[in-house]
Amino acid sequence: MKLLEEKILSEGKALNKDILKVDSFINHQVDPVLMAQIGEAFAAHFKGRGITKVVTIESSGIAPALMTASALGVPMVILKKQPSQILNDNLYQTVITSFTKETNYELTLSKKYISEEDHVLIIDDFLANGEAATGAIRLLRLAHATIAGLGVLVEKSFQPGREKLVDQGTEVYALARVGAMDTDHVEFLPADDE
Ligand code: G4P
Ligand code: NA
Ligand code: NA
Repeated sequence: MKLLEEKILSEGKALNKDILKVDSFINHQVDPVLMAQIGEAFAAHFKGRGITKVVTIESSGIAPALMTASALGVPMVILKKQPSQILNDNLYQTVITSFTKETNYELTLSKKYISEEDHVLIIDDFLANGEAATGAIRLLRLAHATIAGLGVLVEKSFQPGREKLVDQGTEVYALARVGAMDTDHVEFLPADDE
C-alpha cells in the first residue's frame, strides 16, 4: 500500500536495524483516515471468503481491525493480554513469548465470542517473529474456528514471522514489507497488494 509506505517514510522512524517507530499514526496517535483506507484494503482482499469475525490482539491491532471489520460488516473480537496465568473455565488461554519486548504474557479469548461456526481474519499492526499471531491461531483452534488469513500493516520481512505462519498454512497479507532498515533508513520489498 503506497500510502502506508509513504507515511512510514515521512513519519516513521527506524531506531536501529530492528525497531520501527510508528507512534504518530499507528501505535500512540492514530490516523483515522489512513486506518479507514487500511480497513478497505484488507476487506477488498479478503471479501467473498465467508469471514464471520475479525480478530486482533490488544492494543495496537484494534484500530485497523475495527476498520476492517466495519468494511466487511462483521464483528471485531479482541484477544486480551493477562500478565499472569489465572485458570478460568470461561476462557481459552495460551502463553505468548515476545522476543521484542522480552516478556511472556497470557493471551485470552472468552468462549462466548468465537465458535466452530467462525471463519476468522486476524489483523495486527506488526508481524515480527510471528509469536503473537501463532498464539492467536492456537486460541482460535481451541475454539474450533477456521482461519482465513493474517493481515498486517507492517511485516518486518527480515524476521521469521511470515515464514513461520506460511509453513503452518496461514496466508499472510502485508500492506508494507520492510526488507531492511537501519537508523533513519527503511527499505521496502513489494507489498502483497502490489
Ligand atoms: P511477534 O508477535 O511477531 O513475535 O512480535 P514480537 O513478540 O517480537 O513483538 C512484540 C510487540 O512488539 C508487539 O506489540 C509488536 O507489535 C511490537 N513490535 C514488534 N516489532 C516492532 C517494531 O519494529 N516497531 C513497533 N512499533 N512495534 C513492534 P505488543 O506487545 O503486542 O503490543 P501493542 O503495541 O499491540 O500493545
Ligand atoms: Na501489536
Ligand atoms: Na505493537
